[in-house]
Amino acid sequence: MASEFNLGACARPNILALRPYRCARDDYKDDGKNTLLDANENSYGPSLPSDTSDHELEQSFLAGLNRYPDPHQTELKQLLCSLRQNPSATNPLTPANLFVGVGSDEAIDGIIRCFCVPGVDKILICPPTYGMYAVAAQINDIDVVHVPLDVEGQCPSFEIQSSLIRETLQNDPRIKLAFICSPGNPSGKLVDSERLRRLLDLNWNGIIVLDEAYIDFASDNASLAHWVNEYPNLVVMQTLSKAFGMAGIRLGFAFAPAEIARLLNNLKAPYNVSSVTSALAKQAVSQSGLKVMKQHRNLILEQRNWLVDQLAQIKRIGRFMGGHDANFLLVEILDGSGVPDNLTAKKAYTRLAEIKGIIVRYRGDELGCQGCLRITIGTERENAKLLARLEEVFREI
Ligand SMILES: Cc1ncc(COP(=O)(O)O)c(C=O)c1O
Repeated sequence: MASEFNLGACARPNILALRPYRCARDDYKDDGKNTLLDANENSYGPSLPSDTSDHELEQSFLAGLNRYPDPHQTELKQLLCSLRQNPSATNPLTPANLFVGVGSDEAIDGIIRCFCVPGVDKILICPPTYGMYAVAAQINDIDVVHVPLDVEGQCPSFEIQSSLIRETLQNDPRIKLAFICSPGNPSGKLVDSERLRRLLDLNWNGIIVLDEAYIDFASDNASLAHWVNEYPNLVVMQTLSKAFGMAGIRLGFAFAPAEIARLLNNLKAPYNVSSVTSALAKQAVSQSGLKVMKQHRNLILEQRNWLVDQLAQIKRIGRFMGGHDANFLLVEILDGSGVPDNLTAKKAYTRLAEIKGIIVRYRGDELGCQGCLRITIGTERENAKLLARLEEVFREI
């Protein structure tokens, strides 16, 4: 059977035809030897206080801040490929498979702008899920089709409903993108890879976007980034904001088949990743950075187990919903008669925030999350404090 997927008929015609802006650094590189008088930069250097000694400046990446950053970020991309290379993959990941941007939020927006014609096309999402997919769609005047996670029954699985998604995609040719979050936010559950394969095996003219923001909190080697060289219509987004603890630098990235990555790179602003972000990101994904990430990740996982045990002993805590594959827990708050209840959850949430100074996230209004709070795993001290304050709140409300 001929493949329905055809990038030339899936991406927007204006993006396919786009001749990307050619910036100064595309023509000649900053190799340390050239005299750069082409980009209207300031050769006298960055305006930083003079008490920063020249030596310190020389030693640090601050010295080059008067220059525009590398528009292609090839070195960083190479490190990201090494991070997610999978020995079982027939085609290794290369920098041509990558888009890097200002958090995964830039990738979400870029993917929507690349494939969806405003006012015409649609995206599919699986609630409860990360809110930015729908917000980015709305900003771009794109309709959103919902195929919920499986939240029905006594023990809802929070799995994607592959058959229903397949049916929906087949029946609506205006849907160009299906966003799948794994591990899910707020479900905290890693999506079953066989269910994903069922989506990727579907013969349709659209893209599966897999959001792996929390992947390093799941089992080792859980990332499916290397699948982008197996499926022509898969994009896998990741970020340094979570397990790497670098939310402040705003670095997100998307692995994609080279042709798709090229389109995403064509439409981005030329210098979207700053030199400071790039330098810190390279440190974070270096061998020594990875060691630190793994130490922190292991502490978070230990704390996650501890918090599950402790919370389970509290009478007003109900079921843990979804999975334990991320750095947060989705947990039911019960009313006096033992039923998960939004009013009680909201009261506990507000009291925790306004009187006890502990901020968690109220998720009771999300599909399948009746009475739920989403609690991020903190340090040992923070978690102990959360537990003590939560017990106080339950005595008070
Ligand atoms: C599922 C998911 N994807 C993406 C993001 C955004 O990540 P970034 O900080 O890289 O924009 C978040 C942030 O909370 C998230 O939960």
